[in-house]
Parts: sequence; structure tokens; C-alpha cells
Amino acid sequence: MFDRLKEDINSVFHRDPAARNTFEVLTNYPGLHALLFHRLAHRIWLKDFKWLARSISTFSRWLTGIEIHPGATIGRRFFIDHGMGVVIGETTVIGDDVTLYQGVTLGGTSWNKGKRHPTIGDGVVVGAGAKILGPFEVGEGAKVGSNSVVTKAVPAGATVVGIPGRVIVKSPESDGRRKEMEERMGFDAYGVTEEMPDPVARAMRSLLDHMHAVDERIEKMCTAIRKVNQDYVDNGKLPPLDAEEFDCVRDDSSETAENR
Ligand SMILES: CC(C)(COP(=O)(O)OP(=O)(O)OC[C@H]1O[C@@H](n2cnc3c(N)ncnc32)[C@H](O)[C@@H]1OP(=O)(O)O)[C@@H](O)C(=O)NCCC(=O)NCCS
Repeated sequence: MFDRLKEDINSVFHRDPAARNTFEVLTNYPGLHALLFHRLAHRIWLKDFKWLARSISTFSRWLTGIEIHPGATIGRRFFIDHGMGVVIGETTVIGDDVTLYQGVTLGGTSWNKGKRHPTIGDGVVVGAGAKILGPFEVGEGAKVGSNSVVTKAVPAGATVVGIPGRVIVKSPESDGRRKEMEERMGFDAYGVTEEMPDPVARAMRSLLDHMHAVDERIEKMCTAIRKVNQDYVDNGKLPPLDAEEFDCVRDDSSETAENR
């Protein structure tokens, strides 16, 4: 039992640089208190003293602001940072080394009995305010962005952000091409979106990606047509995007900014 407690305390040190010493962790971390109460409540739940188990869970919620149903199965080295507003449903299964931040809901979307809450794989990190809703799996090592709403399975190692949650696929090739276009257009999405996600910047990025995908597809189709029909003539290459025109856009916008 003490080994387990030591492990829980160490997991706080590993995941919160603000933790200074064991006494501080034992007395000031509601995530740890909620976990200890849950262990007790879960044992009692399995022995079929359901009301008592629920009451311990409710008492724990009063103290910590964290609601963990006693039926939930939780692995080792689980850590809830800050804690307030976390809700973990009855049929949730959580693996080892999982981290949740405040305001996370591991919930269901149906009132049917049976499995209706998510299964969270080992090493998953769920950002503040994220909601994971439904009886699907969040694969090992996945990251869920703060305030995301995830309603579908997440592959192992993936990062999911947004509402509804989408896997961010980082392709080095498309990133390079995007950056080139954005630089030409004086459209510094990196400067904007790294600090502050901008919906217009995102829309422009999607349009650029889409435009390149369509170009590539047309090029492939032309090549295929040329193979079957030697007489096929396309009217040369598409007109290139003129970098100078984009410079004008940049000049105009900087001029306007200077005049302000
Ligand atoms: C999801 C997360 C793990 C991604 O981290 P990362 O792998 O370092 O990814 P990046 O920061 O490079 O972001 C990648 C992209 O996702 C976007 N993004 C990141 N987090 C996002 C979120 N929560 N919602 C929407 N978009 C998000 C970024 O803007 C960036 O977009 P871009 O490629 O268009 O520029 C991280 O942003 C996160 O939310 N962590 C949770 C932290 C938390 O809750 N802390 C609470 C402390 S109290």
C-alpha cells in the first residue's frame, strides 16, 4: 500500500514542476486525494456495497471538486492536475501513467446501461477542459488538446484538437510547401497561430492545401489522358502564382498599418 502511495507521489513530482516536497504533495494536491478516495470506493463497489461506494465518491467530490464514479477502473500512476471540474464516468477504463487536467469529462452519450464511457490508453494526456464522450478507445500515448470535444476513437500516439476533435497530421512535405506559400503572401500564419489560433489563418491554410491537392490531381489526370490519347493537347502549364502580386498585398497591408 505504501509502495503504491510512494508511486503516486512520485508521479506528481514527474508531472508537475511546481511540486516541491512530499508533505506539500500529500496535503495540497486534490488529484491525489481524489485518487486515494477512489481506490477505497472502487474496492467497496466491487464488494457490492454500492451505496457506501457512491457516498465515498460524493464526499471526495465535496472535498476535491473531482467526481470519479466508483465503478471506473483506473491504472497506476494516474495524475489529475488542479482537478476542479473533472468527471469520470462509471464504465471508464484508464490505463497506466495517464494525466488529466482540470475540467476534463470522460463521459457517455447514451443512457443505455453497459459500456458507455471511453477507454483511455497508457500514457495519454488530456488537456484542460477536454471532453471525451462515448465508449471508444483513446490509443496509447495520445494527446487531447485543451477544450477539445472528442467523439471518435483516437489512434495511438495521435494528437487531437478542436471541436469536434480532429487528429493533427503533421506532414513535413506539406508544412514546407505551406510555409513557402505563406511567406510569399506575406501571410505569417506561424507568427499568428502559434500564439493565438486564428480562424481566418486556418481557413487560408486549408484553401492552400486544397488548391495544391487539386493541382496535383489534375496533373496526374492529364498524364493519364496523354497515355491513352496521344492527340490530347493541354494548353500548357497553369499560370504561375506571381510572387510580386503577393508582395503588393503585403506592402498595402503594412502601409495601412503604418497609417493607423
Ligand atoms: C494538444 C497539445 C498537446 C498539442 O501540443 P503540441 O504537440 O506541442 O502541438 P503544437 O502546440 O505544436 O500545436 C499544433 C497545432 O495545433 C493547434 N492546437 C494546439 N492545441 C490546440 C487546442 N487545444 N485547440 C485547438 N488547436 C490547438 C496549434 O495552434 C497548432 O496549430 P497550427 O499547426 O495550425 O499552428 C497542447 O496544445 C495542449 O492542448 N496541451 C494541454 C495542456 C493543458 O491543458 N494544460 C493545462 C495546464 S493547467
